[in-house]
Amino acid sequence: MIQLSGAGKRYAHKLLFENVDWMITAQDRIGLVGANGTGKSTLLKVLAGLETLDYGSLSSTRGISAGYLPQDGLSLSGRSVFAECMAVFAGLRALEQEMEELTRRMAELDHTSSEYSQVADRFHRIEHEFQTRDGYAIDAKVGAVLTGLGFQKEDWARNTEEFSGGWQMRIALAKLLLQQPNLLLLDEPTNHLDLEARNWLEDYLENYPYAFVLISHDRYFLDVTVDKIVEIWNKRIHFYSGNYDKYTAQKTQRREQLEAAYRNQRERIEQLEMFINRFRYQATKAKQVQSRIKELEKMERIEIPPEERTIHFSFSQPKASGRIVAEFTGLAKSYGSKEVFQDVNFIVERGDRIALVGVNGAGKSTLIKLLAGRETPTSGELRVGHNVQPDYFAQDQYKELNPDARILDDLGELSPRSTQTELRSLLGCFLFSEDDVFKKIGVLSGGERNRYALLRMLLHPANFLMLDEPTNHLDLRAKDVLLTALSEYTGTVVFVS
Ligand SMILES: Nc1ncnc2c1ncn2[C@@H]1O[C@H](COP(=O)(O)OP(=O)(O)OP(=O)(O)O)[C@@H](O)[C@H]1O
Ligand SMILES: [Mg+2]
Repeated sequence: MIQLSGAGKRYAHKLLFENVDWMITAQDRIGLVGANGTGKSTLLKVLAGLETLDYGSLSSTRGISAGYLPQDGLSLSGRSVFAECMAVFAGLRALEQEMEELTRRMAELDHTSSEYSQVADRFHRIEHEFQTRDGYAIDAKVGAVLTGLGFQKEDWARNTEEFSGGWQMRIALAKLLLQQPNLLLLDEPTNHLDLEARNWLEDYLENYPYAFVLISHDRYFLDVTVDKIVEIWNKRIHFYSGNYDKYTAQKTQRREQLEAAYRNQRERIEQLEMFINRFRYQATKAKQVQSRIKELEKMERIEIPPEERTIHFSFSQPKASGRIVAEFTGLAKSYGSKEVFQDVNFIVERGDRIALVGVNGAGKSTLIKLLAGRETPTSGELRVGHNVQPDYFAQDQYKELNPDARILDDLGELSPRSTQTELRSLLGCFLFSEDDVFKKIGVLSGGERNRYALLRMLLHPANFLMLDEPTNHLDLRAKDVLLTALSEYTGTVVFVS
């Protein structure tokens, strides 16, 4: 259906992947995995035809319609949510309009005239097409997908620009699902979904009639949705059949094989080098030495990607606040006529670590924004305690960063007394390698960007942190780094997860 041959991609001198041969067939259900920054989003964009390859080729059979959902950064405007979704069915709606027009003409015409029978003929043909393309069901389909993705009925008429980034992504996802492309390409579709919507999407994908490739760091989601895993690792892609569990088992095995191959190669190299050094100046061995030099040159060196290193780092800790950090009394919040919650009373005390959980639209983000003073309550009162320094990490925190700044410089500005070495080792703890530190913020991958935004926040942390989905986009290692940092943190934390 769609095929990559010898595909490779690099950014400046950094190679993302090479020698990628991958054929996607009509019924494939594929999970694309790999650590942050390995090139998953880039590869998906290549498949969607939005990014070019540096090596190799992409070919697809005629009639492939790929539908692509980016990892973030979409913004829709100008129409209601419902209208935006209905736009997917523009073709069908044109038919519907023509049917109405024809009906009107039929009513005007004399039933025995030949013109009438022509019009009636056309009407029946169009109605037949409308019916076979399920035209009468589009309203219901739109409704079902919107409900599944967590849009309440009263939201359907609201304009798309009123929705936050995460909800915009849901609208885009809804449109894509309604389109039913024969190759669905989803880049971390669950990042903006709560548990309920995620479960719905699992079921939806289970019944999806065509192929899909999805990127996710959520192993539970992958376990139930895909039956093949494609991994970018060590600048190549690796195929695994079966779900995520099988993949982890096979992966361990592969890694062991690679290590064994690496050891063998090292031994061989040593042997060769020893031979060469020993007999280099002996004329009688010249030929053998030459052939060994050739062998060394031709050898494709096996590389082992850096082990999962976790470097320990202690952040400075904030000054303690008073015992009461924040207190809400009689809090209520509504948006227009929509009531999110009412009569909420609670106290956050020093040292508390509070997780906000809840279903769709329960108002977790709203609550944390109220707490952070980013929203004002409709009624009720928020009292912030003595010596409390609040800091808020938004779901799209990276938007507040300067995309043109290099991360090393940006961090340096934040921490002017640190030396370059200190800054680089700090970035290293947050998994940014030697070359990464010179990247501009604007080119970072989703995970890298969030990781950097968190590092900035934790560098000189305030004593009251409010984090809205801080682990979004992060791979396993990065989550570990964050968890360690937070477990050592002596201040107060409220987070949505
Ligand atoms: N224009 C660019 N210039 C330089 N480097 C870039 C550019 N665009 C992307 N990169 C780098 O390429 C790498 C791959 O990015 P990509 O977004 O494909 O990663 P990803 O696997 O999707 O990661 P994540 O899990 O964090 O979403 C990243 O290290 C990123 O910093
Ligand atoms: Mg990505």
